[in-house]
Amino acid sequence: MHLTITLPQAPSVTEVIDCPHLLRSDLAFLPKGVRRFALITDSAVEKLIGLPLKKRMEELGLEVHLFSFIPGEAQKTRKTKQKLEDQMLEAHLGRDSCLLAVGGGVVTDLAGFVAATYCRGIPYLVIPTTLLGMVDASLGGKTGVNTPHGKNLIGVIYPPQAVVIDPTLLKTLPEGQWRSGCAEMIKHGLIRDAAFFDQISRPFPRDDLAKLTEIIAKNCAIKIAVTEADPKERGVRRTLNLGHTIGHALETLSGYALSHGDAVAIGILVEGFLSVQMGHLPAKELTLIKETINAYGFPLELPRKFSYEEIRECMMLDKKAQSAVPRFVLLKCIGETLSFGGEYCTVVDEALLRQATDWMQQKGGML
Ligand SMILES: NC(=O)c1ccc[n+]([C@@H]2O[C@H](COP(=O)([O-])OP(=O)(O)OC[C@H]3O[C@@H](n4cnc5c(N)ncnc54)[C@H](O)[C@@H]3O)[C@@H](O)[C@H]2O)c1
Ligand SMILES: [Zn+2]
Repeated sequence: MHLTITLPQAPSVTEVIDCPHLLRSDLAFLPKGVRRFALITDSAVEKLIGLPLKKRMEELGLEVHLFSFIPGEAQKTRKTKQKLEDQMLEAHLGRDSCLLAVGGGVVTDLAGFVAATYCRGIPYLVIPTTLLGMVDASLGGKTGVNTPHGKNLIGVIYPPQAVVIDPTLLKTLPEGQWRSGCAEMIKHGLIRDAAFFDQISRPFPRDDLAKLTEIIAKNCAIKIAVTEADPKERGVRRTLNLGHTIGHALETLSGYALSHGDAVAIGILVEGFLSVQMGHLPAKELTLIKETINAYGFPLELPRKFSYEEIRECMMLDKKAQSAVPRFVLLKCIGETLSFGGEYCTVVDEALLRQATDWMQQKGGML
């Protein structure tokens, strides 16, 4: 796989390169002429990939400053961003340096946001190390941090110069993190491609590298097609938020005890339920979606009971909300979302929303 795409925002070229065994490669994707790099990662990925990559870059005569933070969604904050920026300033990294974001979506969202504002913007490259990162978070240029009010509320769209995907980096990924990436893949099939949904409707073996590479490439193609069609998220890009209006609220309310993917899987079911109740999605298709979510073993039990009021309060700050009224992406059928006059999201009657959040929390409701 070697796919070059063009995104409308500067910098204009993003490369998605399949680069097996990255750590043993000649790192040809690094920008020519740049000698000083800030490598941002988390402390778990630092040991697995960050330090060996730094060593390899130093062998090539490059200057690499590695900065890491404690892993986890709870660290994706303005405070961590500021700490990283101060460390970079202390290392005298200037506008002539380049940032490498190496890790899962938490690292790449946060490090991308650092790159966007550091010295008014420096170039950066992304090396995703989670499945979720490879199929979703590294693509489309969204960067940002969470606040106590909710997920990803502060940020900017700032695409990297290159995304370097090496599926062999996934060997060490824990099962729960693997499943998290599968939630976004299921989402991609649901919003855009029924045949692809069918293909991944049952879990596939992790060790089949050829198959895995093909599936990652398919996901990249879907995400890139949607983001290129609507880079500023005025319409069709919102479809990538299927399951996320509910999902983000659950993630926030759980204090990030729920992983992003696990929360999105529940969100997909709830928003599928809304789609059926509003007369759009055939009920038998929701059954197929449930079977798929269950086949992947997503835990559907919430860490505690959430009241409708607290879920709604959280959703009022969702970026699709209008006048603080949450809006939802709904399915017409597997493979297609509803357009709602090009808005690709709609408000839902309060009573139905209450019913859906009750359904979500009934024992076995979503099974
Ligand atoms: N920007 C976007 O378009 C976009 C899209 C989807 C999700 N996201 C964001 O992505 C984040 C979730 O990303 P994530 O699930 O990758 O989380 P993450 O970055 O927290 O990584 C998950 C865990 O896996 C560990 N890990 C990473 N790579 C590993 C490897 N190769 N081997 C072993 N362990 C490894 C990390 O240390 C971490 O503990 C959320 O903040 C979400 O909002 C962003
Ligand atoms: Zn997501």
